Amino acid sequence: MSFNKDTFFPTPTEIPEQYRLGDYQEQREYLVDGKLLEWAGEVNPIASPVCLNLDGNVAPAVIGSTPLLDAEASMGALNAAVNAYSSGHGEWPSMRIEERIAHVEKFLKLMREQRDEVVKLLMWEIGKNLKDSEKEFDRTCDYIEDTCASLKELDRNSAGFEIEQGTMAQIRRVPFGVAVCMGPYNYPLNETFSTLIPALIMGNTIVFKPAKYGVLLIRPLLKAFQESFPAGAVNIIYGSGHTTITPLMESGKVDVFAFIGTNKGAAALKKLHPKPHRLRSVLGLDAKNPGIVLKHADLDVAASECVAGALSFNGQRCTALKILLVQEDIAEAFVDKFLAQLATLKSGMPWETGVALTPLPEPGKAQFLEQLVADATSKGAKVINEGGGEFAQTFYYPAVLYPVTPEMRVYREEQFGPVIPIVTFETLDEVSDYIVNAEFGQQLSIFGTEPKEVARLIDTSASQVGRINLNAQCQRGPDTFPFNGRKDSAEGTLSVSDALRQFSIRTVVAAKVNDASKELVGDIIRNGESDFLSTEYIF
Ligand code: G3H
Repeated sequence: MSFNKDTFFPTPTEIPEQYRLGDYQEQREYLVDGKLLEWAGEVNPIASPVCLNLDGNVAPAVIGSTPLLDAEASMGALNAAVNAYSSGHGEWPSMRIEERIAHVEKFLKLMREQRDEVVKLLMWEIGKNLKDSEKEFDRTCDYIEDTCASLKELDRNSAGFEIEQGTMAQIRRVPFGVAVCMGPYNYPLNETFSTLIPALIMGNTIVFKPAKYGVLLIRPLLKAFQESFPAGAVNIIYGSGHTTITPLMESGKVDVFAFIGTNKGAAALKKLHPKPHRLRSVLGLDAKNPGIVLKHADLDVAASECVAGALSFNGQRCTALKILLVQEDIAEAFVDKFLAQLATLKSGMPWETGVALTPLPEPGKAQFLEQLVADATSKGAKVINEGGGEFAQTFYYPAVLYPVTPEMRVYREEQFGPVIPIVTFETLDEVSDYIVNAEFGQQLSIFGTEPKEVARLIDTSASQVGRINLNAQCQRGPDTFPFNGRKDSAEGTLSVSDALRQFSIRTVVAAKVNDASKELVGDIIRNGESDFLSTEYIF
């Protein structure tokens, strides 16, 4: 099922009332040192991927604007975070863990009250469909809840002493300092909060810059941040990464850099830090996850998982299947099933029931995808699905390219959108070569039922990627599982419990086991003299 260019985008009155945005939102406020400051300078207009048809003129709806802070304003936020941290003695980092958890729980309660507004903005700002927008919101709330539970457990485990080789020690986790958190536009709430919340709850103070798109949706949460945390613990800035983040990194005052985006962007920012070894980086970067379909695969399972893997949120997931490697013998049968499945996907506006394919938020994205397709077709590939690659304004109907070969750009470049390259292979050695030589190493999916062959690919891949999915698409969840990547795909591991470890470091207080130490340590603990050295237990 393709789409009708003339009627695809709605007139304002065709939008169901509950999904209309209302007034243009001119955001001027940003959060620094517990205060919502008003920005009087330049602003950035927010153009929605949803276009409106106004008497036959179809153009992106401009739904509001956000501040374009300058370097001085951004440094103001950093200084507020540095002061709030105060070398680890600020109110937030020295607060008892139980109390920090209570602040996060208060935030979660206030955040939940904003669900409808945030979900609506997810649809309007990044074009995510209603079901997935709701899922993103709810998953983030679950993540925050699980983080609180996981921290309690972590803290309980460090409440005691360890005794080894005549040395007794208490080992506890402490924060690093100031964390800069930046998330991606495809999960502007979930992925950002999956670093921000663990960094914060561990006692770091935060400068948070929302993603490139999906910015206004943080606005309903500004008050919740302001009301839930001590001044300076969370600071929220807006503007271009170059203008606002460059001075922060150059200042050398950033201790943790949590960034989800491209490896080139991360490298450029990391390089600016004058003391590289003081900077802890937690990065989620590019990926080109392959789906490998072996000749003994269940082709119905493979086709439906590959369609979901390649096209959920229009292929704009870091975990999306971005290339399909299909064994020659079954290539035709697989392609038929894949195309039949793709044709069932409904195109439309994000709020429409059952819609899967929606407009894309990045300006010029359709043209970028068109170039990738033109490059591939000029080198021998064909667009094999009906309507593949047709586009209108911000909507691009998926293009399936077949057969794709190594000299085509789409063979290596991350398309991050609805173009699906299909490559054929004869032997497993060809697949192994692809995996080993790939620039990125996040995940892959193997579709097959023959144990020897699947096992062989598992063994090739185990040292190349962070997760191997069997007869299932690639994905991050469940969020309690480790999420990482090899090569240029990531730095550090995230999961509910791993993230707490990424944003903290263990400090050890050790003493020889003798009467004098026992008396000294015993006195400190009994009299509650130290915040760190304590056997207090969170129930
Ligand atoms: O964009 C990358 C996300 O972490 C992927 O998460 O697999 O749950 O869509 P997901």
